[in-house]
Amino acid sequence: MATKVRKRLKLKEPYLSILRFIGFLLLALVALFLFYRHEVNGIKKLGYSEKSSNKILFSFYRKYVNSINYSKTLDKAYSSKYFKEKYMKKYEHVDYVDGKHFIKNINILLDKKYSYNDINMIFAHGSDSDVSEFAKRDRVNYLEEYYSYDFAKIKNYDKYVKYSDESGEGAYSTIVRVNLKLDEENYKDPIIVSKFSTNMLVNKHYKLSDKFSVPDLVKLDDDLVSENGIKLQKEAYNAFKNMYNDASKSGYSIYINAGYRSSKDQQELCDLYKRTYGEEYVKKYVALPGFSEHETGLSIDVASKNSKIFAESKEYRWMLDNAYKYGFILRYTANHMDDTGFRPEAWHYRYVGKDISTYLHDHNISYEEYYAVFVDK
Ligand code: DAL
Ligand code: ZN
Repeated sequence: MATKVRKRLKLKEPYLSILRFIGFLLLALVALFLFYRHEVNGIKKLGYSEKSSNKILFSFYRKYVNSINYSKTLDKAYSSKYFKEKYMKKYEHVDYVDGKHFIKNINILLDKKYSYNDINMIFAHGSDSDVSEFAKRDRVNYLEEYYSYDFAKIKNYDKYVKYSDESGEGAYSTIVRVNLKLDEENYKDPIIVSKFSTNMLVNKHYKLSDKFSVPDLVKLDDDLVSENGIKLQKEAYNAFKNMYNDASKSGYSIYINAGYRSSKDQQELCDLYKRTYGEEYVKKYVALPGFSEHETGLSIDVASKNSKIFAESKEYRWMLDNAYKYGFILRYTANHMDDTGFRPEAWHYRYVGKDISTYLHDHNISYEEYYAVFVDK
């Protein structure tokens, strides 16, 4: 019978001591690691990111962080390579905004001795790159003049000063006009509009992109138009139908002379008017292709079945009093020629939706002004 021999590994000194030491070291390391995780997690519980929590722990900022409420700006500062210890107690006073150069820009603005209030105002009026540009310029002493208006743009600061100095206009109209590029030549360097919206702006400074297309273009019923085939954007069309029906019930006969035009149609129209009436006429009454509201499917030229000259018809008066109830505005008026860039057109209405048309009806401002103040922020 075979005997089983069990051999026991018996370690001898000094190996035993070395092993004990390694075991102890491992235990100490595990304990240290657990302590480190416990500390980092404690900071993370306050809201800070992993990276910031490490920074806080190893730079001994824990006491300061415990003494204040969580601040997202401070959090971003701790994890940014631009973090400056001398500004540590200032970051929390700046409202957080998303941006690649956020912390770097705060540092530059603090270097330039801007107050927290100023810095918040600057960030609230521009994109990350706008603020980066603005941060390069000499310190501006009185920002409130323009930036107490929420639609003022930080990137336009120098243009505001220039326009205001040259025109003598106050801050409000300076901001409105500069934002709309009305301080620049017509059709020069326009803002490109690519997205359809019932509150979009198209004029001599806002050009439709080559790729622009109108969603839901529909052909109008024959009894609503002067010639077959006129199209409108669906929402504008439905609004017009309601208006047409109510007008008819009250004894007013309106119809549509023109609706949607492609930019090619607009080009042909320009050429025709240029040949017939000359260039000056085109400048006053016809938009260049890409710059016409008719290309949005939201504009209509209205006519009366009772009078050849629309402005002399009873339908013209009815439209003045009622079109806003259906979401339409008279777009080119005598008192807003400086904003619209066109001579008055009694027949040209634009669909903007009831909220906006009611506001414009009540406040008698141009659609350009409305857009600058309420839409383009
Ligand atoms: N008549 C208007 C301005 C247009 O051509 O769009
Ligand atoms: Zn028109």
